[in-house]
Amino acid sequence: MKTQERIVEERVQITPVPRRKGRRVRKFFSRIFLGILLIFLMVGATVGLAYWTSLWPDTINMSSTCANMKAMNGMQMDGMDMSGSDGMCNSGSSSQKPISIDSLRAPTTAAHMATFTLTAGVKRLPLGQGETVEAYTYNGTSPGPTLHVRQGDLVVVHLINKLPVSTAIHWHGIRVPNSADGVAGLTQDAVKPGQSYTYRFVAQDAGTYWYHPHQHSYEQAEKGLYGLVIIDPTTPPVHDDIDASLSVHEWTFGDFRNFRHVELINGTARQQQIQASAGQWVRLRIANTSSNLKLLTLTGASFTVVALDGHDLNAPSPLRDTPVPIGGGQRYDLRFQMPKSGAVSLFRASLDTKWAFEKAPAVVIGQDNVQIMPPAKGTKWFDFSGYGQPAPTPITPQSHFAATYTITLNGHLGFMNGRFGPLHTINGQTFPNTPTIVVKPGDVTRLRIVNETTEYHPMHLHGHTFTVLSRNGHALTGSPVILDTVLVQPHESYEIAFLADNPGLWMEHCHNFFHAYMGMDMMVVYPNISTPYNVGNSSGNFPD
Ligand code: C2O
Ligand code: CU
Repeated sequence: MKTQERIVEERVQITPVPRRKGRRVRKFFSRIFLGILLIFLMVGATVGLAYWTSLWPDTINMSSTCANMKAMNGMQMDGMDMSGSDGMCNSGSSSQKPISIDSLRAPTTAAHMATFTLTAGVKRLPLGQGETVEAYTYNGTSPGPTLHVRQGDLVVVHLINKLPVSTAIHWHGIRVPNSADGVAGLTQDAVKPGQSYTYRFVAQDAGTYWYHPHQHSYEQAEKGLYGLVIIDPTTPPVHDDIDASLSVHEWTFGDFRNFRHVELINGTARQQQIQASAGQWVRLRIANTSSNLKLLTLTGASFTVVALDGHDLNAPSPLRDTPVPIGGGQRYDLRFQMPKSGAVSLFRASLDTKWAFEKAPAVVIGQDNVQIMPPAKGTKWFDFSGYGQPAPTPITPQSHFAATYTITLNGHLGFMNGRFGPLHTINGQTFPNTPTIVVKPGDVTRLRIVNETTEYHPMHLHGHTFTVLSRNGHALTGSPVILDTVLVQPHESYEIAFLADNPGLWMEHCHNFFHAYMGMDMMVVYPNISTPYNVGNSSGNFPD
């Protein structure tokens, strides 16, 4: 019995031990499992919340009426008084009937009219290096036709949409009346497939401009929808024997994770040839119609930068081999005299090669069978802040500014309208949560643009031109510089100022199409203007 009991006891004592251990192990693992599950749930909830809160409302209305601005809580720039005597929402203006964007139009007739039809469509195009792509075109080509008009002309453009998607045309740099600005959801509804739309504006300022969609511009402009507008001055300041234009573009494949691009000039990767003979004066109008910075230079002759964004510089001095950085959306007019012998060549560099120039020129002006000079190495990039000679100009650092706002450019990973990726922010926010600047007619407003990133941000203001006051804290010492797009290089800052002389609702954004798509847009508005159009899913209007 004793032995049996002992055996039983022993069994009793022995058997529970592994069981308890197993339970502990199981408990341990189930706790870990629960912990992991909890972490997953928390991460999931955070990501889900970030996704959810990033979604745009179905209808976003950009009217600058008091009620709407108040509804879009926190929309105005910090420090802007929206309710006080100086604010736009005092009893005076808020009780007035809003002005509709549709009433801000050009006249219907004028002494000189220039009428064009642009048909947007799809076409397979060769890129000039073996590859054929499905491009979006205007009148069957990319770039679309150059619209050549005279200063003062009333320009009428009929857009016919034969694309499978809706579109709209923006007239980049041209001070058009608000209703002709071509921003889907702001100044019009995007033009649906099969439909048409007419733009009308007076070509006030001479110079080099361009056009591109402002509906899904990231996709549509990059796929080929762009073209130049050249406005000839009523009295030309200089005579050019040859006036040639170059749209510098990149054809992109894949997305930002798997990115490849082909560099194009006037739609082809092939070398371009421009005929010119010794002694002739040549003007090259160069437009960067793509997102990334383009770095170019000319060899074989000294050259001057005669205009930036269409606006003449005062007393530009000759440059030799100077690399010229052209931000997305910007235009540079270069001018030179053909040498007695030899060609003038345009060389291109790219970010991919740490800005080393390509071996072969992209464009040869003159004969291509003559000796071609490669660009000198180590020359400093062109900087307009001390170029040319000072001249009287309406806006200077001493002007009276109605207000000064700081626009800080930055970025982080996150969600924007449900898309995950590198967000590009203005004062920490993405569009449409970025601050809005309110200007009154006659105001001169100063903007301080600070780039806290390592990227290039060509910042563009619609409907106005602005004067550059300073670069990195130093006032300009050369020619006045008037632009519609300022290239803010990594960690640079600029002060710019503009006169509010064109009432409406206007965009201010980075002209790297991808950056704009990822949030780097804001609004500059005049008080009490209403728009019947909306951005968002219910309207299908998406300006970027
Ligand atoms: Cu060239 Cu808002 O654009
Ligand atoms: Cu940018």
